[in-house]
Amino acid sequence: MAERPIELKTTHRIIIGDSRRMEEVEDESVHLMITSPPYPMIEMWDDTFKLLDERIDKAWERMEAEGDEKKREGYVREIYELMHENLAEVWRETYRVLVDGGIACINIGDATRSLNGVFRLFPNHSKVIEHCERIGFVTLPYILWKKPTTKPKYKGKGAFLGSGFLPPNAYVTLDCEFILIFRKGGPRRFEPHDELRYASRYTKEERDGWFTQIWDVAGARQTHPEVERRVAAFPEEIPYRLMRMFSVIGDTVLDPFLGTGTTTEVAIRLNRNSIGYEIDESLLPVIKEKVGKLNATLTLRTLREDLYRGPGEG
Ligand SMILES: C[S@@+](CC[C@H](N)C(=O)[O-])C[C@H]1O[C@@H](n2cnc3c(N)ncnc32)[C@H](O)[C@@H]1O
Repeated sequence: MAERPIELKTTHRIIIGDSRRMEEVEDESVHLMITSPPYPMIEMWDDTFKLLDERIDKAWERMEAEGDEKKREGYVREIYELMHENLAEVWRETYRVLVDGGIACINIGDATRSLNGVFRLFPNHSKVIEHCERIGFVTLPYILWKKPTTKPKYKGKGAFLGSGFLPPNAYVTLDCEFILIFRKGGPRRFEPHDELRYASRYTKEERDGWFTQIWDVAGARQTHPEVERRVAAFPEEIPYRLMRMFSVIGDTVLDPFLGTGTTTEVAIRLNRNSIGYEIDESLLPVIKEKVGKLNATLTLRTLREDLYRGPGEG
Protein backbone atom coordinates (compact mmCIF):
# COMPACT_ATOMS: atom_id res chain seq x y z
CA MET A 1 0.00 0.00 0.00
CA ALA A 2 1.44 3.41 -0.99
CA GLU A 3 1.52 6.66 0.96
CA ARG A 4 -2.08 7.67 1.76
CA PRO A 5 -3.23 11.21 0.93
CA ILE A 6 -3.91 13.10 4.14
CA GLU A 7 -5.39 16.56 4.63
CA LEU A 8 -2.83 18.61 6.51
CA LYS A 9 -1.96 22.28 6.54
CA THR A 10 1.77 22.68 6.13
CA THR A 11 3.94 25.81 6.41
CA HIS A 12 6.90 26.73 4.24
CA ARG A 13 9.53 29.27 5.22
CA ILE A 14 12.01 30.69 2.77
CA ILE A 15 14.81 32.65 4.37
CA ILE A 16 17.04 34.72 2.15
CA GLY A 17 20.16 34.57 4.25
CA ASP A 18 23.30 32.72 5.25
CA SER A 19 22.76 29.19 6.56
CA ARG A 20 26.05 29.15 8.44
CA ARG A 21 23.90 30.82 11.13
CA MET A 22 20.33 29.53 11.23
CA GLU A 23 19.12 31.69 14.12
CA GLU A 24 15.54 31.46 12.86
CA VAL A 25 15.43 27.72 13.46
CA GLU A 26 14.98 26.34 16.95
CA ASP A 27 17.11 23.53 18.37
CA GLU A 28 15.74 20.05 17.61
CA SER A 29 12.87 21.24 15.42
CA VAL A 30 13.79 19.65 12.05
CA HIS A 31 13.27 15.99 11.12
CA LEU A 32 15.15 15.78 7.84
CA MET A 33 17.73 17.86 6.00
CA ILE A 34 18.11 17.46 2.24
CA THR A 35 20.59 19.62 0.36
CA SER A 36 23.15 20.09 -2.35
CA PRO A 37 25.81 22.66 -1.39
CA PRO A 38 28.21 24.49 -3.69
CA TYR A 39 30.90 21.90 -4.48
CA PRO A 40 34.42 22.89 -3.38
CA MET A 41 36.96 23.17 -6.18
CA ILE A 42 34.33 23.21 -8.93
CA GLU A 43 35.02 26.38 -10.89
CA MET A 44 31.40 27.56 -11.04
CA TRP A 45 31.40 27.93 -7.22
CA ASP A 46 34.79 29.66 -6.78
CA ASP A 47 33.25 33.13 -6.51
CA THR A 48 30.60 32.00 -4.04
CA PHE A 49 33.27 30.66 -1.68
CA LYS A 50 35.42 33.78 -2.14
CA LEU A 51 32.43 35.93 -1.18
CA LEU A 52 31.58 33.73 1.80
CA ASP A 53 35.07 33.84 3.26
CA GLU A 54 37.66 36.55 2.73
CA ARG A 55 40.44 34.11 3.67
CA ILE A 56 39.62 32.06 0.55
CA ASP A 57 39.72 35.16 -1.62
CA LYS A 58 43.10 36.18 -0.17
CA ALA A 59 44.62 32.68 -0.41
CA TRP A 60 43.50 32.48 -4.04
CA GLU A 61 45.17 35.79 -4.89
CA ARG A 62 48.37 34.68 -3.14
CA MET A 63 48.32 31.34 -4.96
CA GLU A 64 48.10 33.07 -8.32
CA ALA A 65 50.90 35.52 -7.47
CA GLU A 66 53.23 32.90 -5.94
CA GLY A 67 56.24 31.84 -8.03
CA ASP A 68 57.34 28.92 -5.86
CA GLU A 69 55.58 25.65 -6.74
CA LYS A 70 55.73 24.22 -3.20
CA LYS A 71 54.20 27.34 -1.69
CA ARG A 72 51.51 27.40 -4.39
CA GLU A 73 50.66 23.84 -3.43
CA GLY A 74 50.25 25.02 0.17
CA TYR A 75 47.68 27.57 -0.97
CA VAL A 76 45.75 24.94 -2.96
CA ARG A 77 45.50 22.82 0.20
CA GLU A 78 44.52 25.82 2.33
CA ILE A 79 41.74 26.88 -0.07
CA TYR A 80 40.31 23.36 -0.21
CA GLU A 81 40.31 23.06 3.60
CA LEU A 82 38.71 26.51 4.04
CA MET A 83 35.92 25.73 1.57
CA HIS A 84 35.05 22.63 3.59
CA GLU A 85 35.30 24.51 6.88
CA ASN A 86 32.64 26.89 5.56
CA LEU A 87 30.36 24.00 4.60
CA ALA A 88 31.01 22.38 7.98
CA GLU A 89 29.52 25.42 9.72
CA VAL A 90 26.25 24.54 8.00
CA TRP A 91 26.57 20.87 8.97
CA ARG A 92 27.14 21.98 12.58
CA GLU A 93 24.00 24.13 12.53
CA THR A 94 22.10 21.24 10.94
CA TYR A 95 23.13 19.00 13.82
CA ARG A 96 21.80 21.55 16.29
CA VAL A 97 18.37 21.90 14.64
CA LEU A 98 17.78 18.18 13.94
CA VAL A 99 15.67 16.14 16.34
CA ASP A 100 17.16 13.02 17.86
CA GLY A 101 17.14 10.39 15.13
CA GLY A 102 16.80 13.11 12.44
CA ILE A 103 18.53 12.46 9.12
CA ALA A 104 20.77 14.65 6.94
CA CYS A 105 21.14 13.85 3.21
CA ILE A 106 23.91 15.71 1.42
CA ASN A 107 24.22 15.51 -2.35
CA ILE A 108 27.83 16.29 -3.28
CA GLY A 109 30.15 15.53 -6.17
CA ASP A 110 33.93 15.18 -6.12
CA ALA A 111 35.90 17.61 -8.27
CA THR A 112 38.67 17.11 -10.80
CA ARG A 113 40.80 20.09 -11.67
CA SER A 114 44.23 21.15 -12.86
CA LEU A 115 45.71 23.47 -10.26
CA ASN A 116 49.36 24.33 -9.86
CA GLY A 117 50.05 22.30 -13.01
CA VAL A 118 48.66 19.06 -11.54
CA PHE A 119 45.45 17.36 -12.64
CA ARG A 120 43.91 15.71 -9.58
CA LEU A 121 40.83 14.65 -7.66
CA PHE A 122 39.42 16.66 -4.77
CA PRO A 123 37.39 13.99 -2.94
CA ASN A 124 34.69 16.27 -1.52
CA HIS A 125 32.53 13.40 -0.31
CA SER A 126 35.23 12.10 2.04
CA LYS A 127 35.89 15.59 3.45
CA VAL A 128 32.17 16.00 4.22
CA ILE A 129 32.10 12.61 5.95
CA GLU A 130 35.17 13.56 8.04
CA HIS A 131 33.61 16.85 9.13
CA CYS A 132 30.19 15.35 9.89
CA GLU A 133 31.70 12.57 11.98
CA ARG A 134 33.70 15.12 13.94
CA ILE A 135 30.46 17.04 14.60
CA GLY A 136 28.89 13.89 16.01
CA PHE A 137 26.76 12.53 13.16
CA VAL A 138 26.44 8.78 12.63
CA THR A 139 27.38 7.92 9.02
CA LEU A 140 24.93 5.62 7.24
CA PRO A 141 25.37 3.80 3.89
CA TYR A 142 25.34 6.30 1.06
CA ILE A 143 23.89 6.44 -2.44
CA LEU A 144 25.81 6.84 -5.69
CA TRP A 145 23.75 8.88 -8.08
CA LYS A 146 24.77 7.82 -11.58
CA LYS A 147 24.59 10.88 -13.81
CA PRO A 148 24.06 10.67 -17.54
CA THR A 149 27.59 10.04 -18.85
CA THR A 150 29.67 13.01 -19.84
CA LYS A 151 32.70 12.79 -22.12
CA PRO A 152 35.71 10.93 -20.73
CA LYS A 153 38.62 13.16 -19.75
CA TYR A 154 42.25 13.14 -20.74
CA LYS A 155 44.59 15.33 -18.67
CA GLY A 156 41.52 17.25 -17.56
CA LYS A 157 40.91 18.53 -21.06
CA GLY A 158 37.48 17.05 -21.57
CA ALA A 159 38.34 14.43 -24.19
CA PHE A 160 40.76 11.59 -24.75
CA LEU A 161 42.47 13.43 -27.60
CA GLY A 162 44.78 11.50 -29.95
CA SER A 163 46.04 8.88 -27.50
CA GLY A 164 42.57 8.04 -26.20
CA PHE A 165 43.12 4.31 -26.56
CA LEU A 166 46.68 4.14 -25.24
CA PRO A 167 47.42 3.29 -21.62
CA PRO A 168 48.27 4.46 -19.00
CA ASN A 169 47.59 8.22 -18.80
CA ALA A 170 43.82 8.62 -19.16
CA TYR A 171 41.54 9.25 -16.18
CA VAL A 172 38.30 7.70 -15.05
CA THR A 173 35.33 10.02 -15.70
CA LEU A 174 33.43 11.37 -12.72
CA ASP A 175 29.97 10.20 -13.64
CA CYS A 176 28.59 9.61 -10.15
CA GLU A 177 27.68 12.02 -7.40
CA PHE A 178 27.20 11.07 -3.78
CA ILE A 179 24.13 11.32 -1.61
CA LEU A 180 25.67 11.04 1.82
CA ILE A 181 23.34 10.05 4.65
CA PHE A 182 23.91 10.88 8.30
CA ARG A 183 21.83 10.52 11.44
CA LYS A 184 21.82 12.41 14.71
CA GLY A 185 21.99 9.70 17.38
CA GLY A 186 19.95 6.50 17.25
CA PRO A 187 16.86 5.73 15.13
CA ARG A 188 13.76 7.92 15.63
CA ARG A 189 11.13 6.61 18.02
CA PHE A 190 7.38 6.53 17.33
CA GLU A 191 4.30 5.48 19.28
CA PRO A 192 3.03 2.06 18.13
CA HIS A 193 0.71 2.47 15.10
CA ASP A 194 1.53 6.17 14.72
CA GLU A 195 -1.10 7.32 12.21
CA LEU A 196 1.06 9.67 10.15
CA ARG A 197 3.92 7.19 10.01
CA TYR A 198 1.63 4.47 8.71
CA ALA A 199 0.09 6.89 6.22
CA SER A 200 3.62 7.61 4.92
CA ARG A 201 4.52 4.06 3.97
CA TYR A 202 6.25 3.22 0.68
CA THR A 203 5.40 0.30 -1.60
CA LYS A 204 7.55 -2.80 -2.05
CA GLU A 205 8.57 -1.58 -5.53
CA GLU A 206 9.56 1.81 -4.10
CA ARG A 207 11.53 0.19 -1.30
CA ASP A 208 13.36 -2.16 -3.66
CA GLY A 209 14.21 0.67 -6.06
CA TRP A 210 15.19 3.28 -3.49
CA PHE A 211 17.05 1.45 -0.71
CA THR A 212 19.82 0.40 -3.04
CA GLN A 213 23.20 2.00 -3.49
CA ILE A 214 23.10 3.03 -7.16
CA TRP A 215 20.45 5.42 -8.40
CA ASP A 216 20.03 6.04 -12.10
CA VAL A 217 18.10 9.31 -12.09
CA ALA A 218 18.08 11.57 -15.15
CA GLY A 219 19.21 15.12 -14.41
CA ALA A 220 16.20 16.57 -16.24
CA ARG A 221 15.50 20.26 -15.73
CA GLN A 222 12.01 21.23 -14.75
CA THR A 223 10.62 24.72 -15.12
CA HIS A 224 13.47 27.25 -15.37
CA PRO A 225 16.20 25.48 -17.36
CA GLU A 226 18.60 28.42 -17.48
CA VAL A 227 18.59 29.25 -13.75
CA GLU A 228 18.45 25.59 -12.82
CA ARG A 229 21.60 24.98 -14.83
CA ARG A 230 23.29 28.03 -13.32
CA VAL A 231 22.78 26.79 -9.75
CA ALA A 232 23.08 23.06 -10.63
CA ALA A 233 19.57 22.27 -9.40
CA PHE A 234 18.83 18.63 -8.65
CA PRO A 235 15.84 16.94 -10.31
CA GLU A 236 12.71 16.69 -8.15
CA GLU A 237 13.08 12.92 -8.07
CA ILE A 238 16.06 13.22 -5.68
CA PRO A 239 14.32 15.11 -2.81
CA TYR A 240 11.11 13.18 -3.59
CA ARG A 241 12.72 9.81 -2.89
CA LEU A 242 14.69 11.04 0.12
CA MET A 243 11.61 12.66 1.71
CA ARG A 244 9.55 9.51 1.24
CA MET A 245 12.38 7.35 2.63
CA PHE A 246 13.43 9.42 5.63
CA SER A 247 10.47 11.50 6.81
CA VAL A 248 6.79 11.14 7.58
CA ILE A 249 3.83 13.33 6.66
CA GLY A 250 3.77 16.47 8.82
CA ASP A 251 7.56 16.44 9.47
CA THR A 252 9.74 19.49 8.88
CA VAL A 253 12.37 19.31 6.12
CA LEU A 254 15.26 21.78 5.89
CA ASP A 255 17.34 22.74 2.85
CA PRO A 256 20.15 25.14 3.86
CA PHE A 257 21.25 25.62 0.20
CA LEU A 258 17.84 26.01 -1.40
CA GLY A 259 18.83 27.30 -4.86
CA THR A 260 15.69 27.40 -7.02
CA GLY A 261 13.44 25.88 -4.34
CA THR A 262 13.23 22.25 -5.51
CA THR A 263 13.14 20.87 -1.96
CA THR A 264 10.35 23.25 -0.92
CA GLU A 265 8.34 22.36 -3.99
CA VAL A 266 8.56 18.65 -3.21
CA ALA A 267 7.83 19.20 0.50
CA ILE A 268 4.60 21.00 -0.41
CA ARG A 269 3.59 18.14 -2.68
CA LEU A 270 4.38 15.54 0.01
CA ASN A 271 2.66 17.24 2.95
CA ARG A 272 5.85 18.03 4.82
CA ASN A 273 6.62 21.45 6.35
CA SER A 274 9.77 23.07 5.06
CA ILE A 275 12.46 25.64 5.75
CA GLY A 276 14.83 26.79 3.03
CA TYR A 277 17.84 29.11 3.20
CA GLU A 278 19.26 30.81 0.13
CA ILE A 279 21.94 33.48 0.17
CA ASP A 280 21.45 34.67 -3.41
CA GLU A 281 18.52 37.07 -3.36
CA SER A 282 18.31 37.08 -7.16
CA LEU A 283 16.82 33.57 -6.98
CA LEU A 284 13.80 34.78 -5.05
CA PRO A 285 11.51 35.34 -8.08
CA VAL A 286 12.19 31.78 -9.31
CA ILE A 287 11.61 30.32 -5.85
CA LYS A 288 8.40 32.32 -5.42
CA GLU A 289 7.12 31.24 -8.80
CA LYS A 290 8.06 27.61 -8.29
CA VAL A 291 6.44 27.24 -4.90
CA GLY A 292 3.80 29.98 -5.16
CA LYS A 293 1.90 28.28 -7.90
CA LEU A 294 1.46 25.28 -5.61
CA ASN A 295 -0.59 27.40 -3.22
CA ALA A 296 1.82 27.25 -0.31
CA THR A 297 1.96 29.51 2.71
CA LEU A 298 5.31 31.21 2.55
CA THR A 299 7.32 33.38 4.85
CA LEU A 300 10.00 35.05 2.84
CA ARG A 301 12.40 37.29 4.65
CA THR A 302 15.96 38.39 4.66
CA LEU A 303 18.06 38.28 7.78
CA ARG A 304 17.39 42.00 8.06
CA GLU A 305 13.70 42.44 7.34
CA ASP A 306 10.53 40.76 6.11
CA LEU A 307 10.25 40.84 2.34
CA TYR A 308 7.00 39.09 1.85
CA ARG A 309 4.32 37.50 3.92
CA GLY A 310 2.13 34.96 2.24
CA PRO A 311 -1.62 34.70 2.78
CA GLY A 312 -2.63 33.23 6.12
CA GLU A 313 0.77 33.47 7.79
CA GLY A 314 0.66 35.10 11.23
C1 LIG B 1 23.94 23.60 -5.71
S1 LIG B 1 22.94 24.99 -5.41
C2 LIG B 1 21.44 24.27 -4.81
C3 LIG B 1 20.49 23.88 -5.90
C4 LIG B 1 19.16 23.35 -5.39
N1 LIG B 1 19.29 22.00 -4.86
C5 LIG B 1 18.11 23.37 -6.49
O1 LIG B 1 17.54 22.31 -6.80
O2 LIG B 1 17.85 24.45 -7.06
C6 LIG B 1 23.64 25.71 -3.97
C7 LIG B 1 22.97 27.00 -3.53
O3 LIG B 1 23.46 27.37 -2.26
C8 LIG B 1 23.51 28.78 -2.16
N2 LIG B 1 24.42 29.12 -1.04
C9 LIG B 1 25.76 29.06 -1.02
N3 LIG B 1 26.25 29.36 0.21
C10 LIG B 1 25.18 29.61 1.00
C11 LIG B 1 25.01 29.94 2.39
N4 LIG B 1 26.06 30.10 3.19
N5 LIG B 1 23.76 30.12 2.86
C12 LIG B 1 22.67 29.97 2.06
N6 LIG B 1 22.77 29.64 0.74
C13 LIG B 1 23.99 29.45 0.21
C14 LIG B 1 23.96 29.21 -3.54
O4 LIG B 1 23.61 30.55 -3.81
C15 LIG B 1 23.21 28.20 -4.44
O5 LIG B 1 21.99 28.72 -4.89
